[in-house]
Amino acid sequence: MSFEIRKLTIVDFDDIHRVWADSGLPTKPNGRDSREMIAKEMQKPVVAYFGLYENDNMIGVGIANFDGRRGWVNRVAIDPDHRGNKLAAMIINACEKFLYESGAVVICALIEDENTPSMACFTNSGYTAEKEIIYWTKRRSKED
Ligand SMILES: CC(C)(COP(=O)(O)OP(=O)(O)OC[C@H]1O[C@@H](n2cnc3c(N)ncnc32)[C@H](O)[C@@H]1OP(=O)(O)O)[C@@H](O)C(=O)NCCC(=O)NCCS
Repeated sequence: MSFEIRKLTIVDFDDIHRVWADSGLPTKPNGRDSREMIAKEMQKPVVAYFGLYENDNMIGVGIANFDGRRGWVNRVAIDPDHRGNKLAAMIINACEKFLYESGAVVICALIEDENTPSMACFTNSGYTAEKEIIYWTKRRSKED
């Protein structure tokens, strides 16, 4: 089997949502994951969406974004039929390359503490957990 990473555009919107849905990742289709919001996000030079393809079929996805200090790897997902083959690492690598080239020094990811496959995957890619930090947010709506 041959796999290929591609940088995505808004044309890939439906496939991105298909992979997220098949992967069980919750989305905010009326908010930050709407076509309009993702299209705007993709226009920003500090954001890149990457897809992992087997032939022409998207089987994985992930987002890299540079906040001016740190780089973030977000919403990595591999469809359930392809898990356990270290394919997420290909997406993480693509995100890291983009983030280092953007100027990031530290690269971060947020992982829910029951998500053992994701923690294993990021551990295998060289990440370590900093458990004393708690994720705090401020949202204007439930769709954000
Ligand atoms: C997290 C995720 C992206 C990892 O993708 P992957 O390509 O399967 O990653 P890996 O092959 O490196 O496997 C990671 C871990 O998944 C587990 N795993 C292995 N085979 C598996 C399978 N067939 N099905 C499910 N999990 C499996 C193992 O714990 C493995 O760790 P190990 O290699 O140290 O044993 C994938 O499980 C996924 O899409 N999960 C749902 C979405 C999600 O939670 N994303 C992360 C948000 S932070």
